[in-house]
Amino acid sequence: MQKKRVVVLISGGGSNLQALIDGVQAGELPVEIVAVISNRPGVLGLERAAKAAIPADVLDHKAFTDRESFDRALMEKIDSYSPDLVVLAGFMRILTPEFTQHYLGRMLNIHPSLLPKFQGLHTHQRAIDAGESHHGVTVHFVTAELDGGPSVVQAWVPVLAEDDATSLAKRVQRQEHIIYPLAVKWFAQGDICMQDGKCVLNGEPLPPSGFLIRSDEP
Ligand code: GAR
Repeated sequence: MQKKRVVVLISGGGSNLQALIDGVQAGELPVEIVAVISNRPGVLGLERAAKAAIPADVLDHKAFTDRESFDRALMEKIDSYSPDLVVLAGFMRILTPEFTQHYLGRMLNIHPSLLPKFQGLHTHQRAIDAGESHHGVTVHFVTAELDGGPSVVQAWVPVLAEDDATSLAKRVQRQEHIIYPLAVKWFAQGDICMQDGKCVLNGEPLPPSGFLIRSDEP
């Protein structure tokens, strides 16, 4: 079977990108990462791509006067690689409806909270401040709604009394690096799709949380 073509969008360190690269290199992820595109020059994620011999491209949003023209140029760049799937891996941009519509059902995002809780930024600190007993991370299909869209998989971790945002982020990131390759694998195998605003896994609509993974390891 032809491997699915994946374009990964990043803005920074790219540890989620690395988890995907590792999965591909270990033969566990039946996809080809055909390009990595960053909206910021000089980030570590670009080095990770180069090291894995993946074409890496920069499209600096600062060179554009408005969101619409940047998103249009980005779409053109992405589409030049003919991807089956677009993966947002720490891509810190608000997307235009035109962009989200264009990739509807074939674009995934990872967000460091148990969506719909804590959309937006500073999720770890906000979870601590709210006195949550659990926090975590969600992989979801991208729709026009920011950090909305049907969840594919969600991993829960405990919030410990001694946690600060850094220690909690570390615990969450360990789960990110497990669930993102899993979701991409499911997509590549044709196990998941977006239908009627829900994620369907092997023919069964998932609950709003998506497939749940709970880790009680500190
Ligand atoms: C990840 O923790 C991801 O969940 C978050 O950015 C980080 C990127 O890390 N994404 C968002 O906050 C999106 N709203 P990475 O560059 O090391 O993969």
